[in-house]
Amino acid sequence: MAEKEAKRGAGMSTLLKVNNLVKRFGGVTAVNDCSFEVQEGSITALIGPNGSGKTTAFNIITGYLKPDSGTIEFDGKLMAKPTPSSIYRAGLSRTFQQARIFPELTVLENLVISSSFGWKDLLGTRVTAADRKRGMQTLEEFRLDKLHDLRAKDLSYGQRKLLEFASVLMSDPKLVLLDEPTAGVNPVMIETMEKHIRDRNKAGVTFLVVEHDMQLVMRLCDPVIVLDHGSKIAEGMPEAIQSNPQVLEAYLGS
Ligand SMILES: Nc1ncnc2c1ncn2[C@@H]1O[C@H](COP(=O)(O)OP(=O)(O)O)[C@@H](O)[C@H]1O
Ligand SMILES: [Mg+2]
Repeated sequence: MAEKEAKRGAGMSTLLKVNNLVKRFGGVTAVNDCSFEVQEGSITALIGPNGSGKTTAFNIITGYLKPDSGTIEFDGKLMAKPTPSSIYRAGLSRTFQQARIFPELTVLENLVISSSFGWKDLLGTRVTAADRKRGMQTLEEFRLDKLHDLRAKDLSYGQRKLLEFASVLMSDPKLVLLDEPTAGVNPVMIETMEKHIRDRNKAGVTFLVVEHDMQLVMRLCDPVIVLDHGSKIAEGMPEAIQSNPQVLEAYLGS
């Protein structure tokens, strides 16, 4: 708690600014005039009922989807024509609700690939000894080093999510978007994931986390942003969000 107070008082600056995003799929308005900010140094939660537009918002922010309207500012710059690779290079990386790894590659190869910027670069560049070393160091941090030679497809579901998380850190991102990092993983792995998020946050990485485990959100995140039907309906400290009538209504009504 003391730590959280200190962080809040530290005069944080805005790292990500989402302005009036709109995204329609046919008749469905998935994201509806959505605006929010992520402060540098925070672990911000993005929550909301199923279908409230969280993943779609992530897809727009990371350049995987073009919004119908609205803009994204990252690190003080307007992202004019964001593509996944330009966003990644700018220091914003993400994980996916269904972990995206390269199943046929080894655990270490998965990490090393992520330190280059996409397949094109990879094919044109040789994997350096330095890349391998950094890959192994990251695997040690995540206690996956003993598994470095295993094919990624042979990892457990939770280990695959952990590998994906470790991989996105190889680009030294300023901001990491995690889409349901603990969905479907066992309680021990939830704690492991939580520890790694905290450790990297202490080391300076900002997080925006979509998470369904409310206990984890309450322990880990501040502030919490709530989406409903594609718009922000509330934002605040976890304690206040928990008892916010509009938030309760959104969850009960879904
Ligand atoms: N590619 C798509 N095509 C059509 N509808 C989509 C697509 N992606 C998401 N949607 C719809 O947009 C809404 C928001 O979905 P999503 O962003 O996945 O929500 P959340 O991640 O909060 O559960 C839902 O109604 C969903 O069915
Ligand atoms: Mg989702």
